[in-house]
Amino acid sequence: MGKLNDKVAIITGAGQGIGYAGALRLASEGASVVAVDIKMDGVDKLVKEIKDKGGRAISIQADVTNEDSVMEMVNKTVSEFGRIDILYNNAGATKKSDKGVVDMDLDTWNFAMDLVLKSVMLCCKHVIPIMIKNGGGSIINTSSGAGLVGDLSPSAYGAAKAGVINLTRYIATQHGKQNIRCNVVVPGVIVTEASTANVGPLFDLLESHALLPRNGKPEDIANAVVFLASDESGFMTGAEIVIDGGLTMHMPTFGDYMKTGLSI
Ligand SMILES: NC(=O)c1ccc[n+]([C@@H]2O[C@H](COP(=O)([O-])OP(=O)(O)OC[C@H]3O[C@@H](n4cnc5c(N)ncnc54)[C@H](O)[C@@H]3O)[C@@H](O)[C@H]2O)c1
Repeated sequence: MGKLNDKVAIITGAGQGIGYAGALRLASEGASVVAVDIKMDGVDKLVKEIKDKGGRAISIQADVTNEDSVMEMVNKTVSEFGRIDILYNNAGATKKSDKGVVDMDLDTWNFAMDLVLKSVMLCCKHVIPIMIKNGGGSIINTSSGAGLVGDLSPSAYGAAKAGVINLTRYIATQHGKQNIRCNVVVPGVIVTEASTANVGPLFDLLESHALLPRNGKPEDIANAVVFLASDESGFMTGAEIVIDGGLTMHMPTFGDYMKTGLSI
């Protein structure tokens, strides 16, 4: 008996990385998975993997930054499964040109705002009315350590990810009485294709600033997502769960002390 039997879950950006692992875990707990991505190859592979293990899944091609595409995603889900219980807003990325504010071009800024923040609003806008008809649901948004603290880059991504945290609280506030919970996961350094391409050469440096002796795996996020999707977190809403091996939980000098052997 899974924790999510009879639940229908939409996962955006499910074609690879953290979303792929999250979709597999949700399916392993009995959820029917709607695997959404702008590219089809990854989600088609995912659906086959879930079905081979005896689960239920469909793939849908959608661009979560486009409102018509999001509406089509919702309509297809409802016509296939009749309801939506879980919305896992995972899709998100920025451009390589997302650096400091002085050098920011507006295409770069708008790309991050659209994909990281507007997408969450659009998916919630069109899924929440379906959840209200069901009698409730659980929304899990995705922020980042970049949304908690300042850094040299990426400025647009960090600002948009900070926005996701407070948008989560607004949605939780507006729809709690309709039994819709909305929480946010805040991943730190999680080794995926995308993070390897962006910060792969810095993985060891980043790990030296974490409290635990490793960087993260997609499954570390997937486990928290299953918890937030399930009734086990039934009294949690508007909350953020930071899953970063302690990267943002200490004095900035920690990494230096560890390297030098100094302590206070
Ligand atoms: N990997 C990390 O270290 C890390 C850290 C903090 C936060 N995050 C966040 O976690 C989430 C997943 O990260 P990841 O490393 O697995 O990313 P990823 O780039 O590997 O996967 C993202 C998926 O989203 C899809 N996608 C991109 N644009 C889309 C669109 N417009 N519509 C629909 N799908 C689209 C991509 O095709 C891809 O399959 C992102 O929101 C990311 O910002 C990741």
